[in-house]
Amino acid sequence: MKAFIFDLDGVIVDTAKYHYLAWKRLAKEFDFELSELDNERLKGVSRIDSLDIILRLAGKQMDQAKKHELADKKNTWFLEYVNNMTPAEILPGSVNLLEELKTASFTIALASSSKNARTILNKIQLTDYFDVIVDGTMITHSKPHPEIFIKAARLAGVPANECLVFEDAEAGVEAAVHARMRCVGIGNPDRLHKAFIAVSDLSRLNLQKIQSLFQHADTVKS
Ligand code: BG6
Ligand code: MG
Repeated sequence: MKAFIFDLDGVIVDTAKYHYLAWKRLAKEFDFELSELDNERLKGVSRIDSLDIILRLAGKQMDQAKKHELADKKNTWFLEYVNNMTPAEILPGSVNLLEELKTASFTIALASSSKNARTILNKIQLTDYFDVIVDGTMITHSKPHPEIFIKAARLAGVPANECLVFEDAEAGVEAAVHARMRCVGIGNPDRLHKAFIAVSDLSRLNLQKIQSLFQHADTVKS
């Protein structure tokens, strides 16, 4: 592995809960109760595609102008939560792993569908760890499309098979697999079964564990 590509929301920082709270609040406005299970389908997916999924679940239709108005409203609420966030909301193990990778001079990339990724990274003061940042403003297709990971690898100058992705979203794991990258799932292994392995959070891993895991896999393969 030469490059490590991190998703942001739900992997590095606990912002996935704020996306859920804001979407739930918005869905209530058209009398739809957004469950946690349905919310899993929104993870990793762009703002407007997420709204489309909710509208489909709620059996509602509306024109593009209205959709953009609602998506903006959700984003305003989301940013209110983000604004009150502190580095204490960085998820367990993220800083240790970033620190270890940086010390060992690996390339570190961020691949987040969020248009707010840079704001969030600045807020939690982790921007300087990343050699490459690809966010929602730089892509045309949302995860599960592999565009974001392919772009991150290209900017890092590292071939796909030497990149390792960390993802909490089913759509994100799928995108990594489509990009022909190995992926560590963060969260429930049943949901993230397409990942190479799944762990509850990054504190379960360190560089040595990651290297031995993948060296072993490569030995078995060859
Ligand atoms: C992803 C989140 O990181 O970013 C999704 O997992 C979110 O839930 C997407 O919809 C887009 O985020 P934003 O901040 O541009 O609305
Ligand atoms: Mg995520």
